Formats: sequence, C-alpha cells, structure tokens
Amino acid sequence: MRIRNLKNKKEILDSSKYIISDPSKYKGKWNKLFGNSNKICVEIGPGKCTFIYEMAKLYPNINFIGIERIDTVLAYGIKEMENKEFLPNLFLINYDAFKIDEIFDSEVDTLYLNFSDPWPKARHEKRRLTNFRFLEKYDIIFMSDKKIIMKTDNVHLFEYSVVSLSSYGYKIIDLSLDLHSKEDYNNIMTEYEKKFAKKGCKIYMLSAVYYK
Ligand SMILES: C[S@@+](CC[C@H](N)C(=O)[O-])C[C@H]1O[C@@H](n2cnc3c(N)ncnc32)[C@H](O)[C@@H]1O
Repeated sequence: MRIRNLKNKKEILDSSKYIISDPSKYKGKWNKLFGNSNKICVEIGPGKCTFIYEMAKLYPNINFIGIERIDTVLAYGIKEMENKEFLPNLFLINYDAFKIDEIFDSEVDTLYLNFSDPWPKARHEKRRLTNFRFLEKYDIIFMSDKKIIMKTDNVHLFEYSVVSLSSYGYKIIDLSLDLHSKEDYNNIMTEYEKKFAKKGCKIYMLSAVYYK
C-alpha cells in the first residue's frame, strides 16, 4: 500500500482510545479489557479500518481487534474514525501479525483476512498470510474451532489459500468466485473491495473452519 506520510502520526496513535500500545500485556486477558465475555474477532491488515469499524458498529455484542503493521495507514484510519461515534467494542494494534501468537492465547473466535498483500513472487511466499508459517501461529490464538474468512480480488492468492488451508486441515465451508454477483449477500465492503468492485473486478471469498 503506497500512502503519503502523515507528520503527526505518532501523536494520532498515542492519543487514540482505540490503540493498544502494549498488546502482549493482554495476552489471554482481552475479554477483561473489553469488560465482557463476548466473542473476539480479529482482522489482520485492516488498513484504514473501514471494514472493522463498520463491523464493530453493526455488531455491538462482538469485540473486534485490528492488527495493522503500517503506522501511517492506521493513523489515517484513526483520523477518520475520530469524527465518528466511539465504539467500545473495537481496539487496534500497530503490530506485525507474524507475532500474533505473542498477543493472544486461545481467545479468538474468527480471523478476517481482507485483501491481504498477495506477495506474488515465489521467494516471498512465506509472507502470505495463509502460508503455513502463519497458520501455525493462528493455532495458538483460537478459542475453539479455528475460523478464517478471507476476501480478495487476487485469484492467485485465492487459489494458493484454498490449497494451503485445505492441506493444513481446514474445511472450506463457503466459497464464492464472484461475491458481488449474489443479490442478497450480506457483506460489509472494505476500502480495497470498494475500489476493485468499482473497476469491475471479481471478488473472491472463502470461509474456512478447522474443527477441533
Ligand atoms: C492491501 S491492504 C488491504 C487493506 C484492507 N484490509 C482493505 O481491504 O481495504 C493490506 C494491508 O495489510 C497489512 N498487512 C500486511 N501484512 C501484515 C502483517 N503481517 N501484519 C499486519 N498487517 C499486515 C498492510 O500493511 C496493509 O495495510
């Protein structure tokens, strides 16, 4: 994601009520921080957080946590969110999800991967968020059945993910090769999804579960 630098990004992140700056402190204790026992859903790479904010607003009885490694993009998202209603069921972390096992312990219900970077070169395969290296990390975070919901415009990343998840033991329980063609689909669009859909690109979606 190419994005203009934001001079006061540190100030924005430091002063936001959404940001958790020391996430490892809450490992195994996120429900305490939320102050309830509602289920926890995590999005890796929320970008400017349009999807996760809308989801948190629509589902006040579910807790949401976004993990975004680029501080600038997160700061832009927070700037926009500061003008909107405050949502107590949403926290954001400026962090690399490769270390996700250091911040959650058997407490996540569902993981969302929306328009993840495709890393098309073979030598970068291990950076894809559905690579085995990541799937092993995710094992630590789920409370019970492991649930991953993924959307992308990139057919290569999609095919790769179907194979990677299936060989790891996940069952693909829902799959669409053209999500927006469904008339009655219930879908919150991400920022990238809106851009790609406008260009007429097909949106691929899968829902995968590993039953414990
Ligand atoms: C292509 S953007 C999509 C943003 C948003 N999900 C959307 O659909 O509009 C992918 C985002 O994932 C983030 N990302 C990629 N790898 C990550 C990782 N290992 N940990 C945290 N964030 C990551 C990137 O910084 C970027 O903001």
